This record gives sequence, C-alpha cells and structure tokens, in this order.
Amino acid sequence: MGNNLLKGKRGVIFGALDENSIAWKVAVRCVEEGAAITLTNAPVAMRFGEIQKLAEITGAEVIPADATSEEDLENLFVKSMAILGGPLDFVLHSIGMSVNVRKKKDYTDLNYEWMLKTFDVSAISFHKMMQTLWKLDAMQEWGSILALSYIAAQRTFPDYSEMAESKALLESFGRSFGYHYGTAKKVRVNTLSQSPTRTTAGSGVKGFDEFFTYADKMSPLGNASAEACADYCVTLFSDLTRMVTMQNLYHDGGFSSMGMSPAILDMN
Ligand SMILES: NC(=O)c1ccc[n+]([C@@H]2O[C@H](COP(=O)([O-])OP(=O)(O)OC[C@H]3O[C@@H](n4cnc5c(N)ncnc54)[C@H](O)[C@@H]3O)[C@@H](O)[C@H]2O)c1
Repeated sequence: MGNNLLKGKRGVIFGALDENSIAWKVAVRCVEEGAAITLTNAPVAMRFGEIQKLAEITGAEVIPADATSEEDLENLFVKSMAILGGPLDFVLHSIGMSVNVRKKKDYTDLNYEWMLKTFDVSAISFHKMMQTLWKLDAMQEWGSILALSYIAAQRTFPDYSEMAESKALLESFGRSFGYHYGTAKKVRVNTLSQSPTRTTAGSGVKGFDEFFTYADKMSPLGNASAEACADYCVTLFSDLTRMVTMQNLYHDGGFSSMGMSPAILDMN
C-alpha cells in the first residue's frame, strides 16, 4: 500500500534485470506510490532478464536502450515523454558493469580498453543520460535525478577493482551536473550509496558473501536491503526532498560512519 508520494509523477527507471535488481524494487515502489513509469535496459538484457514480467506488474512500457549510446538515450526519452504524457519528474540510473572484474583481471594487471568500457557503462552513461535529458529539455522543474553508488568511491575495497573509480566518477558527475541542472531548472541530482545487496552485479564481485556478512555486522542497523533502498529512492523522487541536491547519500545502516565494531571481533 502506498501513500501517493509520487502521485501524478512521470519517471524512467534504468537497470531492472531480474527480481533481485535494486531497480526492480524501485520500479514496483514508485508505481505503488502513484507514479507512471517506463522501464529500460540494454538490448542484451531483454534476452537474459525478466523485464517483461516487471512491465506487467507495473503496467509500464519497456524501451530498450544501451546507456552508452546517445542515440538510444534520445529515443528512450522522446518515447517516454510521449507515452507518459509530458516531461519527466524523476530518473533512476541503476547501471553497473566491470569488464575487468568479469574477466577476473587483477587490479595490478588491468586491461585499459576494458577499463574504458567499464567507465563508459558504469559512469559516463550517467553524464550521457543527463546531457540527453538536458538537450531535449525532458525534465520537469523540481524533478529528481538519482544514480546508485557504493562506498568504494571513498574507501578501498580491493576486490571492487576498477568499479571504485567508476563510482568516484559517477558521484562527481552527479555533483557537477547538479550545479547546472539546479541553476537552470531546479532539478536535483544525487547519488545514493547503497549497502552490499545480493543481485547479479553485486554477486559478481569476488568474495561477495563474506563481505556481505562483514558489512552486515559492521553496520549498527545491518545491511540496507534492496526494498529499503527502494523506499529511500521514493522519498528522493518525492516533493519532500526538493532542496537536497549534489549529495552522495549513504544508505548503509550506518556502515560509513563506523570505525570498528565489537560484532566483528565476535565473528569467529
Ligand atoms: N548489489 C550491490 O551490492 C550494490 C551496492 C551498491 C551499489 N550498487 C549499484 O546498484 C546499481 C544496480 O545494480 P544491481 O546490484 O541492482 O545489479 P543488477 O545486475 O541487477 O543491475 C545492473 C544493471 O545494469 C544494466 N546494464 C549493464 N550494462 C548496461 C548498458 N550498457 N546499458 C544499460 N544498462 C546496462 C544491466 O542490464 C543490469 O540491469 C549499480 O549501479 C550497482 O553498482 C549495487
């Protein structure tokens, strides 16, 4: 049951692959709160994922788009505005992929072609998304743009590899574009730094299960779930957070403020 926090709002959700995807939960919650949305993912994800199932649940149309293609992004936003009946109130970027991690390359032996691809998919796509929205004037005044990040942007988590730099870049794009969008259109841009979450992208990181347990113990509230993340996204798309912009917002049960926890000492 929703509270109509997003009643009458139009949004685009990137990155729902299957039921575990954070974007999946966000899409469901946004619709529960009264929003009308379109869903998008890379064309290849249409074949392997379950996005059509989500489309049925949410009554949303699916528009394939490779987030690294400006042409695809333009088509996505033009179609979304036509389907939803006007400019967008919110957009979620929930995209991450590392070629070097996928191919199990050590951080001290990275392939730079692959690294550029990783940055393009995981971070530059956020700028491309915003620049396309900007050029099309596709955002409603007081709208909200959000991307999902991870604390490896600030601290070292060795197995996260080049995704750490991807997230640092992503967060910086959020701040920089947030300035331009704020002054021009009162649109806010933030990144949400989420706890480890069991998804396809998350589980691709080496040692994920051990790390998930570690973070869970370290966080006074435990790891934040994907469902809790969706709740937070709803607030950030709602009119209750209109003055929050250019922030990296931790949604991690307190993990980011911890130094040491006695719970960790009790682990073995
Ligand atoms: N799972 C975690 O532990 C965790 C923690 C913090 C932040 N995040 C971030 O949350 C976001 C969503 O990831 P998730 O954990 O839900 O995993 P996920 O695998 O379900 O989602 C990643 C999505 O990125 C999409 N994608 C990949 N390449 C693309 C492209 N070229 N164009 C368009 N889409 C593309 C995939 O199809 C997939 O839907 C990512 O930014 C991820 O880094 C995840």
